[in-house]
Amino acid sequence: MQHILGIDGLSDADITAILDCAQAYADGLRQPELLRGRIVFSLFFENSTRTRVSFETAAKRLGAEVVNWSPGASSVAKGESFADTIATLAAMRPDAIIMRHTENRAPHMVAERALCPVINGGDGTRAHPTQALLDALTLRQARGQVQGLTLVYCGDIAHSRVAGSGMEIFRRLGARIRIVAPPAFMPMDLPPGVEAFTRMEDGMPGADVVIPIRPQNERMDTALIDDAGYAAAWGLTPQRLALAAPGALVMAPGPIRRGVEIDGAVADDPARSLILKQVANGVFVRMAVLDLLLAER
Ligand code: CP
Repeated sequence: MQHILGIDGLSDADITAILDCAQAYADGLRQPELLRGRIVFSLFFENSTRTRVSFETAAKRLGAEVVNWSPGASSVAKGESFADTIATLAAMRPDAIIMRHTENRAPHMVAERALCPVINGGDGTRAHPTQALLDALTLRQARGQVQGLTLVYCGDIAHSRVAGSGMEIFRRLGARIRIVAPPAFMPMDLPPGVEAFTRMEDGMPGADVVIPIRPQNERMDTALIDDAGYAAAWGLTPQRLALAAPGALVMAPGPIRRGVEIDGAVADDPARSLILKQVANGVFVRMAVLDLLLAER
């Protein structure tokens, strides 16, 4: 592994190595402070709570120093181009760059120019590989294995990098994937074998895991469906969750909007919701990614 830009760039062995290493961190079995003296740049061109803070926490738990950069407080605000900004930052020779960007493949452009590993913290509608890895770790912990489970992604699949990377990793790990999406949020192309539905009532029966995806309004000029209409037809309520397999689990990448794509009672159900477990695992997965990319360099 040189960079982590998408699940498609990882071999099956890479995925297993990251999940096993993350589990070792979760179990307290791996040595911290591996990255003392290293400097990691965190470049977030788009808002984030979970990804930015958990990468920073992961890097610091491993002993690295983190330099946080944001466009609003930088010379981008004076008109400096993306390419010149990246060239400038790369010239400072960080040991790794973590980045999030609104544009698809922006991290690939950085990876072509930087002399260090680049980790994609989410690009446009395309990919969010560390989210997919932490989702896989969380489900593996909860159910022992992913193989043979039926997962349902519901909501705004067309604009969701979380759904894109998630479908990719879970298919590779042997899950059956369904999507339930409003026609306006149905992707043009679906990965092979993915079943598509437009009504929750049709897609939920037999689901082992349900993953509600909020409308990604920040990627649209105007909201395509108002919140009340979305909640009425596609919100994950206790009644709709009851259509899934007995004991079906709920995972959500966040940020969640209670009463829109997920009912508060579902989000807070301690027997069904893995949402905060996903957040906790985000730190362990990001420690594993930094460890495997940097420790031997
Ligand atoms: N899941 C996720 O990417 O959340 P943030 O946007 O808060 O990082």
